[in-house]
Amino acid sequence: MDQALTIADLKDMAGARVPRMFFDYADSGSWTEGTYRANGDDLGSILFEQRVAVDLSNRTTRSEMAGREVSMPVALAPTGLTGMQHADGEILGARAAARFGVPFTLSTMSICSIEAVAAATDTLFWFQLYVMRDLDFVDNLIERAEAAGCDALVLTLDLQILGQRHKDIRNGLGAPPKLGLSSLLQMASRPRWCVDMLRTRNRSFGNIIGHAKNVSDLSSLSSWTAEQFDPELNWGKIARIRNKWPRKLILKGIMNADDARMAAENGADAIVVSNHGGRQLDGAPSSISVLASVVDAVGDRVEVHFDGGISSGQDVLRALALGAKGTYIGRSWLYGLGAGGEAGVRRALEIIRNELDLTMAFCGERDVRNVGRHILHSVAEQAA
Ligand SMILES: Cc1cc2nc3c(=O)[nH]c(=O)nc-3n(C[C@H](O)[C@H](O)[C@H](O)COP(=O)(O)O)c2cc1C
Repeated sequence: MDQALTIADLKDMAGARVPRMFFDYADSGSWTEGTYRANGDDLGSILFEQRVAVDLSNRTTRSEMAGREVSMPVALAPTGLTGMQHADGEILGARAAARFGVPFTLSTMSICSIEAVAAATDTLFWFQLYVMRDLDFVDNLIERAEAAGCDALVLTLDLQILGQRHKDIRNGLGAPPKLGLSSLLQMASRPRWCVDMLRTRNRSFGNIIGHAKNVSDLSSLSSWTAEQFDPELNWGKIARIRNKWPRKLILKGIMNADDARMAAENGADAIVVSNHGGRQLDGAPSSISVLASVVDAVGDRVEVHFDGGISSGQDVLRALALGAKGTYIGRSWLYGLGAGGEAGVRRALEIIRNELDLTMAFCGERDVRNVGRHILHSVAEQAA
C-alpha cells in the first residue's frame, strides 16, 4: 500500500482488483456526469494563499464533528453496496476509521448489517437512513441503530427518487440486477475478489433481507427497493424522525440556503452540503460552489459539513476554508478499500491527512480549527 502516493494511485489499483461493474458503480454520476465532474474540477480551481516566516511547529489536525472528537475533520461517507467493492467492505471501512480516529457512516443499503458492523468493531459508528414508505421498517432501522450504539443518524434527503446512471444499466446493475455472461466474466477476471467473496457470508443487503416484509432474496429485494424510497418525504416526516431519534441528527443532501434554514428550524444538529457525489440531479452546481452561501445562511445555528469531489487533503482544506466544520469522503475511501481492504482505507486516510497537514502549514496555520477564508488566494475567494 505504501506505493500508493495519491488517491488516484488507489483508484488505479482498485480498477485492477474490483470487477468492472462494481468499480463503475463507484466511478459514475448520473446522466452526463457533469455534476460529478464539476465537484472535483471546482474544488481543484480554488487557490491557496502562501505564507512564510510563521512558526509551523506543533501542528494539529484534531477537531470535532457532531460532538465527536476526530483526528481530522474527515468522515467516511455512507456508500451502498460497499461489501461488493471488497468482501466485508463495511466492516473493514469501520475498523480503519476507528483506528484512525475518524467517524464511519454505515449506509442503509450496506451489505454488512448494522449488527454485523457493531459486532466486528469496538468504536461507535454513524448510521445513514433512507426514508422508505414502510414506516415500520424505518422505525425498526432507527431502533436497531440506537441499540447498536450509533451516536449519530445521518438522514439522506436527496434520494426520494433515483437518478439514472447509464453505466449501471449497461453493466446489468439496474433494478432488478441482471447477472448475464458479461457480469460473470467480469467477476471471473478478478479471482482474488472472488476468493474473498466466497469466504464471507455477507453477500446481500444485510439491513434489509429478513427485516423488511416480503423480502427474502435478491430478486424480491430489488423490486422492493425500487418501490420503497418515499417520494412524499417532507419536513413533517423529518420532524417525526427527529422526535424518534434521541442522539445527533445530521441532514444530508442540502444544496440551498432556504433548505439549510429549514433544517436548522427542524432540529438538525448538522447538515451536509452534498449533491450525492453527482449521482442524483445532473446539472446541479458542484457542492463546493454553494458551500459558502449555505454557511452564510445558517451561521452558527447548525454545524455545516461538506462532501463532493474530495480527492485530496487539499480539497478537505478548501472546504474547511469556506466554512465547513467537517467533511466526508465517498469514492476516495472506496478506492482505498478496493485497492487493499482495511490497509487500503487506512492508506487513503494517511494520504489525505498528510496533504491536509502540509497544505495547512504552507498557508501559515498550525491548527485546523483556525482555518478560514483568509487561507485562500483572493481570486479564488471571489470565484467561490
Ligand atoms: C458508490 C456510492 C454509493 C453511495 N451510496 C450512498 C448511500 O447509500 N447513502 C447516501 O446517503 N449516500 C450515498 N452515496 C453518496 C455519498 O455518501 C457521498 O455523498 C458522495 O460519495 C460524496 O462524493 P465523493 O464520492 O466525490 O466524495 C454514495 C456514493 C457512492 C460513490
